[in-house]
Amino acid sequence: MRVLAIAGSLRATSSNAALLRAASRVAPAGTELTIYDGLGGLPHFTPDLDVEPIPEPVSALRAQIGAVDALAISSPEYAHGMPGSLKNALDWLVSALEPIGKPVLLVSASPGGALHAHAQLLEVLRTMSMQVIDGGAYVFSRAQLDGEGGITAPQVVAALATGFARLAQACAAG
Ligand code: FNR
Repeated sequence: MRVLAIAGSLRATSSNAALLRAASRVAPAGTELTIYDGLGGLPHFTPDLDVEPIPEPVSALRAQIGAVDALAISSPEYAHGMPGSLKNALDWLVSALEPIGKPVLLVSASPGGALHAHAQLLEVLRTMSMQVIDGGAYVFSRAQLDGEGGITAPQVVAALATGFARLAQACAAG
């Protein structure tokens, strides 16, 4: 299974990005996990720019999604919503064919639970015809970073492994 992992936080020491990096250690054998690093470089979405020639960062994102079987999104919550940079990326994908039907695993390292952000993500992703695994998010409300900036807490790692195993099942079910 090829997975593109998108962190909804641009913070240098993002716990959501750390969660996705940790996933590469626990995902099922045969998983190829690519961390998307272009979120901050996308232009602000406007339909005026969503025409040929598509801005290069946008066509790169669409191509990366086209090349994978599934997505994993780890998002914090800002003011009871998903971060604007993540919504901006999703807005660029509304008119794209690549994301349609793709299984998506939603996770979060937000200490507050990120329940509003994930309710919003669920609605948006479903509206965009993506297939959210288990109908919701694996939220790791106490996913603390260790001394090296990684995530090693056994209960978090185990739940992350379960989430990625379910993602692999969804990919296999086709
Ligand atoms: C937050 N945070 C937050 N958390 C939450 O559960 N509900 C919320 O509404 C908000 N709102 C909010 C607004 C702003 C401006 C900031 C900076 C933070 C906390 C935030 O989700 C938390 O710090 C995440 O862990 C940040 O994720 P990264 O950057 O570590 O990946």
